[in-house]
Amino acid sequence: MKDFLWGGASASYQCEGAWQEDDRVESMWDHYLHENNLENGDVASDHYHRFEEDIRMMKEGGQNAYRLSLAWPRIIKNREGEINQKGISFYRRVFETCRKYDIEPFVTVYHWDLPQYLEEKGGWLNEETAYAYEHYAKVCFEAFHDLVKEWVTFNEPKWFVCSGYLIGNYPPCHKSPQDTITAAFNVMYASALGVKAFREGKYPGKIGIVHSFTPINGVDGTLATKIAMRYADNYCNNWILDTAAKGEIPIDLLTTLSKKYDLSMITEKHLKVIKENKVDFLGLNYYSRALVKPYSSGETTLVVNNSGKKGKGTSKVIIKDWFEQVYDPNSTYTEWDTEIYPKGLQEGLKEVWEKYHLPIYITENGVGMYEDVTVDQVQDDYRIEFMNDHINAMLNAKDDGVDIRGYFAWSPFDLYSWKNGCEKRYGLVAIDFDHGLVRKPKKSYFWYKEMIESNAETIKRKRL
Ligand code: BG6
Repeated sequence: MKDFLWGGASASYQCEGAWQEDDRVESMWDHYLHENNLENGDVASDHYHRFEEDIRMMKEGGQNAYRLSLAWPRIIKNREGEINQKGISFYRRVFETCRKYDIEPFVTVYHWDLPQYLEEKGGWLNEETAYAYEHYAKVCFEAFHDLVKEWVTFNEPKWFVCSGYLIGNYPPCHKSPQDTITAAFNVMYASALGVKAFREGKYPGKIGIVHSFTPINGVDGTLATKIAMRYADNYCNNWILDTAAKGEIPIDLLTTLSKKYDLSMITEKHLKVIKENKVDFLGLNYYSRALVKPYSSGETTLVVNNSGKKGKGTSKVIIKDWFEQVYDPNSTYTEWDTEIYPKGLQEGLKEVWEKYHLPIYITENGVGMYEDVTVDQVQDDYRIEFMNDHINAMLNAKDDGVDIRGYFAWSPFDLYSWKNGCEKRYGLVAIDFDHGLVRKPKKSYFWYKEMIESNAETIKRKRL
């Protein structure tokens, strides 16, 4: 496991806080959460002021890498593209601290915090946002290339595009298949423009994309189920992975969509940029798989459980004429209806490797739980079991020849979990948001340290 990255992953809006400090401008998330009086990330983990402590704790916890994202609203002040030097200096201090502790920074350019000034001009529905992203990405490469060698264009296009434009539970809260297609295309185009800027600038290092990976299983082996699986795979995975890794949007997906929707924004000029600017690696965030059956009846239904109460906001996915997601009564689910299924990671990694033959990083993996953090040490044995079983799954895939280069726990410390607020906790370090944001390592933090120092020898291994 020489040179393997063992780290933790976070995102700017979810941990930094300091939302008005050093001339940071409003993001679409600030705007939406404030307008609707919802729990927000104004303070979050206060990482903006405590990053040194957080990075030091990662180092002391045996980790050698930190995946984090840059906040566009800290770096670019306005639609004219003016640079905020205070934002640049902040991130330089963060990266210098990483280097001081021998922690490899693994940097995501965009993790959902679009400046509100761009959202007001149509956000991802406007092609101009892709060009604004290209400018922003160039500014980042130029400002940090001496400190950062691992870059990611976007975090999870599937998740933020479908949540924001189809399901409507994330800003800008649209529920429109046409808007989903337009936004999805503009995001994938922007990602290719980011890769293009990186190549043209001849910056050192590598650039990839991070995807919310959902391997697809079928309820049986019938042809109808196989067709449903292909629809589900196109919806969940292929439009990101094929486009970023092969430079091709799946043709059967385009054919199906073209029968009902306007695809005139996809021109030869755009396809050329996408074809010529493929990524160097794939980052896969793994939380769960999808078990699917053929579509039977009813309208498209997409319900996400943000309630944290099993059976209340129970998740449901039906895409009319395509597929239905089903729940396995024999499996285990969290309070947010996420199935715990490590085997999906083992099998999924092999599929992705066979399809794309690109190096892979597990860029997020973890379990969200309610926890009492007023105790001296959170005894999160469930998290230890979860991580053991998923790292085991990853090692099995590695043994089978998949080129896996790193694993990042989501998350190195507790942070703000979007619509689930701060009480859905993923951290290896507890943060008491109500009492001075004190940091206390959980049991899993020490388990992870020992596992890394043993070179993964302490993982309880089994074939899945
Ligand atoms: C991924 C995101 O979707 O999963 C993170 O990259 C997110 O930003 C994480 O927080 C866990 O999801 P959630 O909704 O439980 O916070």
